[in-house]
Amino acid sequence: KEKVSVGLLGLGVVGSGVIQLINDHREKLTHQLGCEVEVSKVLVKNLDKTRNIHINGDLLTTNPSDVLDHPSIDIIVEVMGGIDQAKEYILRAFNNKKHVVSANKDLVALHGPELQEAATKNRCDFYYEASVAGGIPILRGISEGLSTDHIQRVMGIVNGTTNYILTKMDEEGMSYEDALLEAQRLGFAEADPTSDVDGLDAARKMAILGRLAFSTPVELSDVEVNGIRGIELEDLRYGKQLGYTMKLIGFANFNDQELEVNVQPTLLSKNHPLSSVKNEYNAVYVYGEAVGETMFYGPGAGSLPTATAILSDVSAAIKGLRLGVSGSQSNEMQFTKTLTPINK
Ligand code: HSE
Repeated sequence: KEKVSVGLLGLGVVGSGVIQLINDHREKLTHQLGCEVEVSKVLVKNLDKTRNIHINGDLLTTNPSDVLDHPSIDIIVEVMGGIDQAKEYILRAFNNKKHVVSANKDLVALHGPELQEAATKNRCDFYYEASVAGGIPILRGISEGLSTDHIQRVMGIVNGTTNYILTKMDEEGMSYEDALLEAQRLGFAEADPTSDVDGLDAARKMAILGRLAFSTPVELSDVEVNGIRGIELEDLRYGKQLGYTMKLIGFANFNDQELEVNVQPTLLSKNHPLSSVKNEYNAVYVYGEAVGETMFYGPGAGSLPTATAILSDVSAAIKGLRLGVSGSQSNEMQFTKTLTPINK
């Protein structure tokens, strides 16, 4: 095939980033993949909206069938967000034998295993690198780089909003409320920042990380969650005096067939590598039996960083298509263990 066609579901901040990156990196992509990558249809809510990217108006449609049932589209990129409709569209894409790349952490955390099953049944790939920690290739890091090791512990700063708030409170004495407003202004807080500050956003990402790191079906309800709402400047000051930094840490630990996954404000020693991760940055620390300590650091949100993760998935799907090995992607949730979640 000279050209691989991609259909986009959604054209918000992340969708626009995907279009931009495919344009900007066209030559490199064509060289690497041996074919051109072309966006052939984009599902939007409103055709007349002014957009800050240049896109041919003929590509836009408000009819999902134009994308999902398009005969020459091979890969669907879901960047629309939300749960029920996104799930319905993805299932329909798999039924139509299309590979799917999704950035939807809420959906993958809740229905990932079911979507994976539908993908496998249809011999399709399901990729979702962008759903955890934006531009950091952590899912590949775990499911490819560290796949042969026994991972024992994953600790993550996987929510930029709360890390930003805690950093500003700690370093500048800014109030919780002001720091949250600033995070919203800068655009990385969720539309409803409750899921950021109460830890749910981090819990979703930890459920996804836990599944891949421990090959076990972690449910969102298995994750015990505490957010940062009650944290006061005083708490940070006190910790600092004792040599600790407060971080919202997602923790997944595997021990004697027991799996513990939680999200909680944690006082980290200044010597811990995660304590130096500041502002809206994310980082995931992974401890493997053979490899020892590793840490993956980078931007957890934003248009181009997230689009980078999406394009790495698109590229993996295209390589699978070209080699005829679709349906065997490395991040496939293959649950080989049943561990007892200890929070239950
Ligand atoms: N609200 C999220 C954060 C965006 O603050 O990290 C990226 O998932």
